[in-house]
Amino acid sequence: MFGFGQLIDVLKKSHKTIVLTDGTDARILEASSRLLASNFLKPILIGKEDRIYEVAEESGFNIRGASIIDPDNFEDIDKMVEQFMELRKSKGVTEEEARKILKGNNYFGTMLVKMGYADCLLGGASYTTADTVRPALQLIKTKPGSHIVGSCFILVRPGATGANEVLAMGDCSININPNEDELVEIAEETIRCAKLFGIDPKVAFLSYSTDGSGKGEAVDKMRNAARKTKERNPDVPIDGEMQFDAAVSPHVAQKKFPTSQVAGNANTFIFPDINAGNIGYKIAQRMGNFDAYGPILLGLNSPINDLSRGCTATEVYSMAIITAAFACGI
Ligand SMILES: CC(C)(COP(=O)(O)OP(=O)(O)OC[C@H]1O[C@@H](n2cnc3c(N)ncnc32)[C@H](O)[C@@H]1OP(=O)(O)O)[C@@H](O)C(=O)NCCC(=O)NCCS
Repeated sequence: MFGFGQLIDVLKKSHKTIVLTDGTDARILEASSRLLASNFLKPILIGKEDRIYEVAEESGFNIRGASIIDPDNFEDIDKMVEQFMELRKSKGVTEEEARKILKGNNYFGTMLVKMGYADCLLGGASYTTADTVRPALQLIKTKPGSHIVGSCFILVRPGATGANEVLAMGDCSININPNEDELVEIAEETIRCAKLFGIDPKVAFLSYSTDGSGKGEAVDKMRNAARKTKERNPDVPIDGEMQFDAAVSPHVAQKKFPTSQVAGNANTFIFPDINAGNIGYKIAQRMGNFDAYGPILLGLNSPINDLSRGCTATEVYSMAIITAAFACGI
């Protein structure tokens, strides 16, 4: 069952810190004031202290007790520049370039996590996904066993029986046109994430074709990726390729894919590319009344997550909790 209560219980025992890169954004300050008041996760705001307090006062949020770090006045900046140059030495980054890059909140905040000054990072309220995620790809890197960073969304809405309806969708945000093997990795990480949120995954590889009804490279890609994922994860119901109606409607599934265990009951959806994924989760969110949590980045060495620029303070607060819970190894 999806519930923030369990994640908060984990955080209460672990005293984690989270970098929030958009330190002067009122939504970040509202979420920070809530985190500070509840005292289970410590925010580290990036930006100029005077400006952050000014915005907090103007917006009426109490952020007393928050750590604030200004990249222009960071006492360990020389150490950070040295480590950054070491990490990017294959790219031939000069000291001057490193100092300039580290003035940017995203690179600076990511280095705070890399160097152990913080446990995790949440950014993107005022930056694009690419600007938020690129430093993580370059500096935090993939964890052992992972070859790519992918992402998923967890979608939640109240169900008819009172229990929440919880779905997982990947990859809606990072890999623009993943190949077969990348889709297998995205699916396996999405399955892992789905389980963490209480989903018993039934995984549909989505397409414009169901079980060979349509032809094309994109159809083959989804069918082959489904087969490979199934071979590697025999205990999880996985099927594809299939259309979305066959994935979720038992009636359509009966007609289009009667042999499938997943069709009609899918709750974990793997999209063929970022166009389909990004449009798909936003339709569920805006027209299906699901709350969307994510993108949750998968496969990184430390949790770094990205907000939508249209996020609300409540979404910032929720994503901060999810991000920090991953730092506790949930
Ligand atoms: C994620 C993204 C920003 C990476 O693009 P990029 O920075 O141009 O990528 P590059 O090819 O220059 O790679 C930069 C680094 O990241 C690494 N990288 C890129 N994609 C990666 C992935 N999926 N997994 C792991 N590492 C990745 C590269 O290996 C490279 O590392 P290096 O610099 O150490 O050699 C890009 O794929 C993208 O824009 N995705 C879509 C984001 C988006 O707009 N989403 C929609 C809104 S939610």
